[in-house]
Amino acid sequence: MSQFDVTVIGSGPGGYVAAIRCAQLGFKTAIIEKYSTLGGTCLNVGCIPSKALLASSHHYEELQHFADHGIEVSGKVKVNLAKMIERKQQVVDQTCGGIKFLMDKNKITVFEGVGSFVDATHINVAKNDGTSEVLESKYTIIATGSKPSSLPFIAVDKERIITSTEALKMTEVPKHLVIIGGGVIGIELGQVYLRLGAQVSVVEYLDRIIPGMDAGLSKELTKVLKKQGMKFYTSHKVKEVTRKGKAVTVKADDAKGNELVLEGDYCLVAVGRRPYTDGLNAEAAGVKITERGQVEVNDHLQTTAANIYAIGDVVRGAMLAHKAEEEGVMVAEYLAGQRPHIDYNLIPGVVYTWPEVAGVGKTEEQLKEAGIAYKAGSFPFKALGRARASADLDGFVKVLADAKTDEILGMHMIGARCADLIAEAVVAMEFRASAEDLARMSHAHPTFAEAIKEAALAATDNRALHV
Ligand code: FAD
Ligand code: NAI
Repeated sequence: MSQFDVTVIGSGPGGYVAAIRCAQLGFKTAIIEKYSTLGGTCLNVGCIPSKALLASSHHYEELQHFADHGIEVSGKVKVNLAKMIERKQQVVDQTCGGIKFLMDKNKITVFEGVGSFVDATHINVAKNDGTSEVLESKYTIIATGSKPSSLPFIAVDKERIITSTEALKMTEVPKHLVIIGGGVIGIELGQVYLRLGAQVSVVEYLDRIIPGMDAGLSKELTKVLKKQGMKFYTSHKVKEVTRKGKAVTVKADDAKGNELVLEGDYCLVAVGRRPYTDGLNAEAAGVKITERGQVEVNDHLQTTAANIYAIGDVVRGAMLAHKAEEEGVMVAEYLAGQRPHIDYNLIPGVVYTWPEVAGVGKTEEQLKEAGIAYKAGSFPFKALGRARASADLDGFVKVLADAKTDEILGMHMIGARCADLIAEAVVAMEFRASAEDLARMSHAHPTFAEAIKEAALAATDNRALHV
């Protein structure tokens, strides 16, 4: 029987990062993955393929504004969707291959098959070649991730009524894509197909899209996407989705009970994801699964079985790749006797539309609800020379700071390159900077990052320089 110090079940960003850190710390480490490619949701059907399609479709959209820059393109520019999807798959394959390389480099034993607990120290691997093997492991890290969820009355057929997984490998651009859920997946993939020529309608239950983020960001993103042609039906509860041949009908009610009927050729169901523990046989190891389907963990990410830990989408908290990664590192270091810590308040959230949307720390709504006195400083991108030079004028940066101490409590931004700019906010907040600290730091000119300095100046004592 093969014996390991640590066995990781699941090779997504949580699992493979945990395995690498365990190996770095000297543990004899194994990883079990049921699919033939490593990388989990993020690399195969999540972050990486969606960003590849966002990048390709963004190029297409930008091409249509080339004339403004004095570049004349003659001949008809058209989308070759098959080629775009093929390129996306090449990006995915290369990235997944990179994880295999990292496993080999760190001498991590990879098992291909479904891992299920026999007891707290033994895991059966039902291999994809039909054989099986039992491993003995001192510690196990569950990193089995999540799957798309749906609504009880929707029959997802994966052809016309689809999830994000199918939306990443379409064979045609939809004529009318009806999206249920104005969260991150709905908005990112909605923008991909909007750019490629589809009519896109988003039906959202709450009163705004990307409801988890600061309301100011939702408002600005809605404005920009409406300008681009996306249609929104917020405060609408979907009640029925039916398919007849190539037609899909979505029915929803608004708050007053008025019925909305949308006819499309595809319906993307993007109402969240559910933690995935199917086939894990967690109970055999004494691992408790909560009513919400998550693996129950304490502050150290330890499950109800003392030698078994769980990380990533399968446990409480944001379903984000970088959150899963931090948790993987934390558990490995904890097993090695270190004292790691994650400040969950400082895990940034990003939406990779263009303009990009990003936030970290408390939103204005959260500060108001908690009764915390704060001051806010905003700066619009349109007032920046860099933004004008590249014609990326939409959006703003907002800095929220404690009214008395000036400590930054939250930073929220929408605009060009905000997915990268948010890192400055995280660094500042990790070091508990004040708004004035940021305001007094030199930011290269001309850059988009100057919006951060200006917003910090505005928050300090309303002394932004360029508005
Ligand atoms: P997963 O990545 O889900 O990996 C779990 C792995 O475990 C899977 O490979 C699964 O096959 C395997 N597994 C499950 N059970 C077993 C078993 N019993 N035996 C063996 N193997 C098993 N997050 C971001 O931060 N940024 C983004 O831009 C982003 N974009 C996304 C876009 C889309 C379309 C989607 C769907 C998600 C996106 N996410 C993004 C979310 C991100 O993909 C997840 O938060 C992340 O993958 C979670 O990592 P994980 O390691 O917990 O689990
Ligand atoms: P989500 O939780 O972001 O959004 C789901 C949306 O559906 C919510 O706005 C919700 O109010 C709405 N909704 C729920 N029930 C509804 C109903 N009956 N009718 C209409 N609307 C309804 O989930 P999503 O977009 O499916 O993404 C899943 C996870 O994947 C998220 O947790 C997200 O963090 C992660 N992800 C992250 C990305 C990123 O970091 N850029 C990109 C894509 C996904």
